[in-house]
Amino acid sequence: MIPQSFIQDLLARVDIIDVIERYLPLKKRGADYYARCPFHTEKSASFSVSHAKQFFHCFGCHESGNAIGFLMKYNGLSYIEAIQELARDAGLQIPDDGRSFKQQDGSHDRLIEIMTASAAFYREQLRHSPLATAYLRKRGLSDDVAARFGIGFAPDESTALQRIFADYRDKLLHTAGMVIDNDQGRRYDRFRNRIMFPIHDRRGRIIAFGGRIIETGEPKYLNSPETPLFEKGRELYGLSLAQKAIRQAGFALVVEGYMDVVALAQFGVENAVATLGTATTPHHIQTLLRQTDRIVFCFDGDEAGRKAAWRALENALAALRDDITLAFLFLPPEHDPDTFIREKGADALREAAAKAIPLASFLLGKLRQNNDLAQAEGRSRLVHEAGPLITRIPEAASVLRLQLVKAIADASKLTQAEIEQNFGLQPARRAKTHTDATGRTPGTKQHASVPRSAPSPLVAKLLRLVIQHPSLASKLPPDLIPDTTEEGRALIAIADLVELGETVGGLGALTERFRDTPHSDTLNKMATQLADLDEFRDPANIEQQFKDTLCNLQIALVDREIKELTERLTATALSPVEQSRLAELLREKNTLRNFTDSNVS
Ligand code: UTP
Ligand code: MN
Repeated sequence: MIPQSFIQDLLARVDIIDVIERYLPLKKRGADYYARCPFHTEKSASFSVSHAKQFFHCFGCHESGNAIGFLMKYNGLSYIEAIQELARDAGLQIPDDGRSFKQQDGSHDRLIEIMTASAAFYREQLRHSPLATAYLRKRGLSDDVAARFGIGFAPDESTALQRIFADYRDKLLHTAGMVIDNDQGRRYDRFRNRIMFPIHDRRGRIIAFGGRIIETGEPKYLNSPETPLFEKGRELYGLSLAQKAIRQAGFALVVEGYMDVVALAQFGVENAVATLGTATTPHHIQTLLRQTDRIVFCFDGDEAGRKAAWRALENALAALRDDITLAFLFLPPEHDPDTFIREKGADALREAAAKAIPLASFLLGKLRQNNDLAQAEGRSRLVHEAGPLITRIPEAASVLRLQLVKAIADASKLTQAEIEQNFGLQPARRAKTHTDATGRTPGTKQHASVPRSAPSPLVAKLLRLVIQHPSLASKLPPDLIPDTTEEGRALIAIADLVELGETVGGLGALTERFRDTPHSDTLNKMATQLADLDEFRDPANIEQQFKDTLCNLQIALVDREIKELTERLTATALSPVEQSRLAELLREKNTLRNFTDSNVS
């Protein structure tokens, strides 16, 4: 259970402009921001985002909502998932088991403070260390780029941080990963005698460090451990600085090392990020795909580089879409990006990036190269190896998947149908089930399963009833309420409040509760309509009206789905699943009819 206080706080902290800007190019016009609507196809930009209202609204398709609503729709997330995502971006930990959110949040801010203070200290130390500055000079780093990346130096002392932290025994220093407590209970600095690379989150806050030994020693790079601030598989070194350049260049360049990112930036290739000593994860890829539709993975040309590239490919498959390009750039074996750009220059690197091998040909090339296609055994093995890769490619990349299937059929001297059958892939479906803007088939989970343009008068009436009599809120079935109208979303939000164990007070308390959320507008608007409606003349009748409205809403939704299925039935045969769904709907409708009839009498 996520406390409503947390959600309220979260919504107050995130800026919907930041959230949406990660997915859509927003242009400021007057007080608001505009983009082409992601929820319907259009040529002009009628999708507006208001900073003041923390609210988006499309004048074309009338989609609207707050930051949570946007993530739910755009990414097909559930309510909870959307909150989790926002919380992660805001650097907040979702409180559980009743611990107060304020406390946790306080410690989170303190951790950031610790990292920020440490980074400042290390920068200062760099200025005073001839050894460290000489090393950076030897590596060819300019002062400017070192400053831009906040590079510093951890002196060769066991407790240097004691100089800036009055309480060196502070538990949070350990939580932040800045100190190590040994078995004797002695505490010392984690980073000593290392060039320090601060790692920033997307917002530019320092969440971890990578430290490179000066000259040689083990380990060459020491990174912060995983902490409440830092999850290696999610973060990319250099992303906060590179974001703008990625959008401008039209692609992101993923490299392996800190030094690579810094060197590339120094030579003007600013759209590079590095994974942090881990393989590229699907998370990394998702993060980058929010900024760009082309990712070029740059690896050393040696065997280790090829292996790393293959791992990146495997992790990328699940994130594929037909409208993106993932490509692999292999440098000459003796080079990494750092040495390559210093020797050959930025243009040579950009050219190489433009000519990077697209994922599909890398994949096919490797499969072909692994197997002797002159032999039946080799061809079979190729199919065998391809199976688990191809089936990982989602529906959103069905065209690319189809091309790979055809190529594999070609290489293995089998037919496309034989390959598809072998992989357990369905041949292309005749009729598509309805999918949302992200191309996903809506799940059966709450809020997502209801078709668009739900019967809004009924939903509006429900909302009016609930804000007049908040005790009814506990009887709201959130699964049933379509989230396609503002009234529906307000109702769901109210139902969530109740589900989360909050007492919903009168209208005043309710509007206060939703202050700074789009629901407050909705509620205010509805509230002004209450006075002159007949339905409230007879308070005794309220409960019955509520029941009837719910029931009618349910009937309307069932009817709509029945209509959809029967319409389709005239055009094409229904699948067994659809057939049984139709039967179920018809039964449900009967039950509902009986229910309303018995109620009316
Ligand atoms: P490399 O060994 O390729 O180093 O590691 P590099 O980036 O070229 O660094 P220089 O040029 O020798 O200074 C690539 C990345 O792998 C991680 C680091 O993130 C590093 O940037 N790594 C490497 C570690 O985490 N620990 C290590 O001991 C080595
Ligand atoms: Mn290097």
